[in-house]
Amino acid sequence: MTQFTKRVFSGIKPSGKIHLGNYLGAIQKFVKLQEDKSFENIYCVVDMHAITVKQDPKILRKRTLELTATYLASGVDPEQSIIFNQSRVAQHAELGWIFNCIARVGWMNRMTQFKDKAGKNSENVSLGLLAYPSLMAADILLYNATHVPVGDDQKQHLELCRDIAQKFNNDYADEIKQHGFGDQFFCLTEPLINFGNKPVRVMSLRDGSKKMSSSAESDMTRINMNDDSEMLAKKLKKAKTDQDALPSEMAGLEGRPEARNLISIFAALDDTDSQSVLNQFGGQQFREFKAALIDLAVAEISPIGDEINRLMKEEAYIDQVLKDGADRARALAEPLVQDVKKIIGFMV
Ligand code: TRP
Repeated sequence: MTQFTKRVFSGIKPSGKIHLGNYLGAIQKFVKLQEDKSFENIYCVVDMHAITVKQDPKILRKRTLELTATYLASGVDPEQSIIFNQSRVAQHAELGWIFNCIARVGWMNRMTQFKDKAGKNSENVSLGLLAYPSLMAADILLYNATHVPVGDDQKQHLELCRDIAQKFNNDYADEIKQHGFGDQFFCLTEPLINFGNKPVRVMSLRDGSKKMSSSAESDMTRINMNDDSEMLAKKLKKAKTDQDALPSEMAGLEGRPEARNLISIFAALDDTDSQSVLNQFGGQQFREFKAALIDLAVAEISPIGDEINRLMKEEAYIDQVLKDGADRARALAEPLVQDVKKIIGFMV
């Protein structure tokens, strides 16, 4: 079997405010992975994925800078990791096209994220939205990334990425051998879903059954990474709860999605698990728990928010980080795309 370098790739779309769900579900994991020296790390701002739905150009630009600032402020280090925006490395589009010709329309139509986003409007969404997972596979396989830290909502897209890799490896098995690449050209990438801590699904502050989201209309439903301490306190004070005291056991959170959400946010911010939080607060009222949660959130989040706001005044620096990262990413991607072209019979 072909051996692949241990390499991590992940990306976030710069299509909305960066909230606590992005941080706990992804960015914090990127920082932890960076500490494991057996991995090479590549973290992308996937602006090409963002435009699968309409974006205001000025806002897209601002969000790209903001997301990069959030990576940096959270501790993703441009010396240790490659940080760049997708559109600067043209090979993403090149390999994406080739994968569009490997993947089947039926595979795309089965994606639950596509079905959710397209809804009843599936004839009228962009072609890019349908092909989204194919470009995502290109992001990952352009670097033969062996591991991808993502939330569980991306599991299906990772399976599709493996399907594309497998089909390419099969369809071109003879050429892959002839050109001396052994038995496998693309690796079969593993998701890292539970990496670091327990999986954290951060839900809306106003409705514990909905994911915290940058597209939710009300800003009170989410904690943005650059909310100041007053805003953090205000949002958490107003966060929906129920009448009962907090339980001492996890089973007591059954049917109480808002309580469960606040407990799991506390646990993630405190780097512990929900049961330990219940050991501490079981039997108490929400008022006491919320006061502790506000202190913790302010201590953990507002230094990051301050740093984001400081960096946002240094646009040239952020852009330089992205440019340098793109140069390093391109140096890896370019030879791979050359090899793919040779395999499939393009003149290079
Ligand atoms: N689809 C991912 C999301 O919505 C974003 C993404 C694009 C991604 N390309 C990727 C994640 C490659 C991991 C690897 O969260």
